[in-house]
Amino acid sequence: MNEAAPAPKENMGAPLPRVDARLKVTGQAPYPADFAAANVAYGVLATSTIARGSIRALHLDRARAVPGVLDIISAGDVGSIDKPKFGNTGASSIGPLHDTKIFHDGQIIALVVADTFEAAEEAAMLIRADYAEETPSASFDSKGAETEAAAGKSPMFKEDVKAGDFDAAFEAAAVKIDQKYSTPTQHHNPIELFSTTAMWQGDQLTVHEPCQNVTGWKVELARQLKIDPANVRIISSYVGGAFGSKGPMTARTAIVALAARRVGRPVRCVVSRMQSFGTQTYRAETRHRIRMGADRNGKISAFGHEGWEVTSRPDPYVVGGTSATGRMYDYGSVLTHVSIVHADRNTPGYMRSPPETPYVYALENAMDEMAVALGMDPVEFRRVNEPKKEPIGGRPFSSRSLLKCYDQAAEAFGWSRRDAAVGSMRDGDWLVGMGCATAIYPSSVAPCAARIRLTDDGQVRVQCGSHEIGTGVRTVAAQMAAERLAVDIDKVSVEMGDSALPPAPVSGGSISTASVCSAVLKAADAVRAKLFAAAVAEGGPLSGSGNEKLDMQDGKVVAAGGKSAAIADVFKSMQVGAIEEYAEFAPKGSTGQALKKLYAGQPEFHGGEEDKDSVKYAFGAEFVEVRINSYTREIRVPRIVGAFAAGRIMNTRTARSQLMGGMIWGISHALHEATEIDQRHARYVNRDLQDYLVPVNADIKKVDVILVPEVDMEVNPAGVKGLGELGNVGTAAAIASAVYHATGKRIRDLPIRIENLLV
Ligand code: MOS
Repeated sequence: MNEAAPAPKENMGAPLPRVDARLKVTGQAPYPADFAAANVAYGVLATSTIARGSIRALHLDRARAVPGVLDIISAGDVGSIDKPKFGNTGASSIGPLHDTKIFHDGQIIALVVADTFEAAEEAAMLIRADYAEETPSASFDSKGAETEAAAGKSPMFKEDVKAGDFDAAFEAAAVKIDQKYSTPTQHHNPIELFSTTAMWQGDQLTVHEPCQNVTGWKVELARQLKIDPANVRIISSYVGGAFGSKGPMTARTAIVALAARRVGRPVRCVVSRMQSFGTQTYRAETRHRIRMGADRNGKISAFGHEGWEVTSRPDPYVVGGTSATGRMYDYGSVLTHVSIVHADRNTPGYMRSPPETPYVYALENAMDEMAVALGMDPVEFRRVNEPKKEPIGGRPFSSRSLLKCYDQAAEAFGWSRRDAAVGSMRDGDWLVGMGCATAIYPSSVAPCAARIRLTDDGQVRVQCGSHEIGTGVRTVAAQMAAERLAVDIDKVSVEMGDSALPPAPVSGGSISTASVCSAVLKAADAVRAKLFAAAVAEGGPLSGSGNEKLDMQDGKVVAAGGKSAAIADVFKSMQVGAIEEYAEFAPKGSTGQALKKLYAGQPEFHGGEEDKDSVKYAFGAEFVEVRINSYTREIRVPRIVGAFAAGRIMNTRTARSQLMGGMIWGISHALHEATEIDQRHARYVNRDLQDYLVPVNADIKKVDVILVPEVDMEVNPAGVKGLGELGNVGTAAAIASAVYHATGKRIRDLPIRIENLLV
């Protein structure tokens, strides 16, 4: 069905600046909350101050008395709409206003709507709740936290993987480690705040909200409001950072839509930074136990990975990264098990490279420990355990350029100058450490639709309901159309971020470039086919030429032998001013329901570990240098080098930016980020960007990205592996390994802070 296009001669796309770069730097790329809605009213949330229990009484009189207050929707007030559902489209099953039960600290207990933002905020602060409070469970070790196996419990959990006889192999191994690792709670904290603007025209609802899934939200919002999805439109113009936080819809969206219906005016609710910690998703804390056994030559014979993840009381959210860690190396035997721990917390959600970031951190840290135990160079250790096939199902890798990545990154980094002895490299007062780790991310693709219109003046319009979440997908879609239709990129305009456009899958799981470009390629090829047929038809400008060898070059249709016709002349012969084609792309192996599910906002993912023929991953190798002050233990990362292979790179500039951003975030994981939890109250403490640490310019020095050429036409017709989440994986383990190399201290619990390195 889907004919793969021939692999492009040049697999590294031009480093074209983003098509929306000018709009972005001049402030003309609007966030959804910038949309000028006439007569808009303002909504402000009131949130709970306890984490477990119920509301006995809500005192709203003082809030209602604030001049300008139009309405207050509070707990128990939303009986006319359905509860949210937990899954890929809905962030949580907690319907905060459906009853008076409190599931977590910071849960929405009311929405105040007023003429002005100030009035709404004042009123929200005057709301008082009487609670029947119960002692909450905050996290793993809290009394009352409930642990269950992930397998069979969660719709998003794939598998506990197993190969060979782990117990026997581990028992028999000559060299072994058995260690525990952990990663902290983290919040996405996109610069753009979360917001919903809802407006009704008759029974038509339009919602402007930053979003990674306009099609899925349209369907889910219609379900909650009990209206026809055809009457719902979600518009998400430009998104100021998402990272997964704007993937599943939260309960707020339907509440604001209900408020707009009740007050008969558009309502805008911008959530404060502080409130976003409890009303949006986050990356929950994880724990890991890794057991690894090897022979004295460094060949691994046993790999065991157990993971524990915190979630909310009602929802079995889990990332489950052992699907990837269990397939990383040639282990001989594998045994993994993932558990979910329910506590009185808001439901976690996807956060950049959700499974791999914590799980590969644990694996790669263990790999370094094992290399030390074996007295082996850590790069050599990985080389010795490079697999020919994935160890669980025995399938081939569609492509795997990991060792090439190691070679190129090691060379650029100067790994050969590393003295392996711990604490042996010094520069004045600074202890120098060097470490490395592997990055991996599944290469997935999903069904996607696109429409392309080519007009007789050579202008191209691409329409696709994907989302510009900052990755540059508009730019690569424009490049794909420009390449296939042989026009300059400035002739191409791209429309995205609107559920009225042809549906695209959720912009998550690093699938967008592959999925969108595959659909755009298909639509562009349909336009080409129409143009070619007209060109060689009787009365066409290339009449008499064969249809087979036609191509497009420089705005012309070119026949074998070099005869050519301008696009305008082909259009003239057709007596039309434009060709418009709508294409639906479904990946190889799609079910008969694939397109139906795309339109229903439930796209099937293919690739990664999902396909029968092969497993599909992008790989990278990251090398870091750390410097630790011998007196103060201040930790610095002066340089980091990452080499990545991810199939066809549509645009080397946007790809580099994604990988740099990922590695910078990796530095953040290693040294900066953690949401602190008050264990008594199950409450996030550092709920702002003053106390939630992220790196600033002074923390980030030299960041080098090497793009390793790789051709893989098995992954999808565009030959693209996603890389938006790849760079973020492995960095923290590389830093932990470098810290060990500098100091001899193995830090297994992130983040690594000065206090961990004091004697
Ligand atoms: Mo990404 S966490 O899959 O949006």
